[in-house]
Amino acid sequence: MFYRKVAKPILFKLDPETAHHLVIRGMKGLGRMPFGPRLLGQFYPMYRSPRLEVSLWGMTFPNPIGLAAGLDKNGEAVPAFSAIGFGFLEVGTVTPLGQPGNDRPRLFRLPEYEALINRMGFNNAGAVHMAANLSRVRQCPIPVAVNIGKNKTTPNDEAEADYVACIRELYDHADWFVVNISSPNTPGLRDLQTDGLGRLLRAIMDEMASQRERRGGPPKPVAVKLAPDMEEGQLKEAIGRIVEHGVSAVIATNTTVGRTGIDHPHAAQTGGLSGRPLGDRSTEMVRSIYRLTGGKLPIIGCGGIFTAEDAYAKIRAGASLVELYTSLIYRGPGLLAEICRGLDRLLERDGYAHVSQAVGVDA
Ligand code: FNR
Repeated sequence: MFYRKVAKPILFKLDPETAHHLVIRGMKGLGRMPFGPRLLGQFYPMYRSPRLEVSLWGMTFPNPIGLAAGLDKNGEAVPAFSAIGFGFLEVGTVTPLGQPGNDRPRLFRLPEYEALINRMGFNNAGAVHMAANLSRVRQCPIPVAVNIGKNKTTPNDEAEADYVACIRELYDHADWFVVNISSPNTPGLRDLQTDGLGRLLRAIMDEMASQRERRGGPPKPVAVKLAPDMEEGQLKEAIGRIVEHGVSAVIATNTTVGRTGIDHPHAAQTGGLSGRPLGDRSTEMVRSIYRLTGGKLPIIGCGGIFTAEDAYAKIRAGASLVELYTSLIYRGPGLLAEICRGLDRLLERDGYAHVSQAVGVDA
């Protein structure tokens, strides 16, 4: 209520990126106040149900709805974001060195479509800065993934050095890693989905193994995040490499460069489209991946999730977890409990005692 009636009307009068920075600064500040996270948790209590608790890779996710990458790029506001009802968080994308990203304006609202177009370009303060931020988080009640990328100036044939550098710097601070090779806003990055993917994944998995050997503990999962714009053949090839190298999961999907069905003054802006118009395409991609892997590779569904029905469709298509970003901007944090409550009801209606039983039933 507070977000929709008070905060959103103010934030939506501001330039989208200014609004974004205000939210991050506010969440960072609240997270650092002694009772800030607890207060947030009282405003936005997590909806809990044994039906929604997911166990994966030895981790417990209190519900399957996570925050997608790109909102907390530097891992500055983990205590606050972990207190508003998410089942997990993804921070980043972080690159080895800090970089400014593209020139502003680089974020655009398309309210009629509940969509955003962004060409941020991995603006972030770098891996060392993120490690310092995450090391200040004393105890996080939900799993935190770190999404890693390469610097804009690093050529693709040296990209693995950047991913490896991020893992080295952040290994201790991440519960799992997401390899981002699907942002449309770093020139050539998406080529890594097809060219040299095997080499990149080998370097990443080798580094994960050697970090584990050095530091001990159970293995930490690695997920690869893919674009919704891949052709069927490219997807099949990429999934082959991903399975071959023992990657733990796929995230489907990042933003799209497509503009099908969008008639809006901002439609011609360069960048990735997110939000409602992406929903069906990303669900289809979840389904394709589930079929390609026979349901053996966990999938995290992402793209256009605004309602419990949207989340349920992704789960039924094959997603074990889902995550969202754009709907949080349009609907606010109250959305999380709404989605969880609705999902619980849909599962109960369809006779599922646990969310895992619905994974892939429509695939
Ligand atoms: C993103 N997204 C994104 N993804 C990623 O892997 N690394 C990133 O740095 C970013 N940055 C980013 C910035 C902005 C402003 C937006 C809107 C999105 C993509 C995001 O994580 C997600 O994959 C898509 O937005 C689709 O999900 P939604 O937004 O439709 O729920």
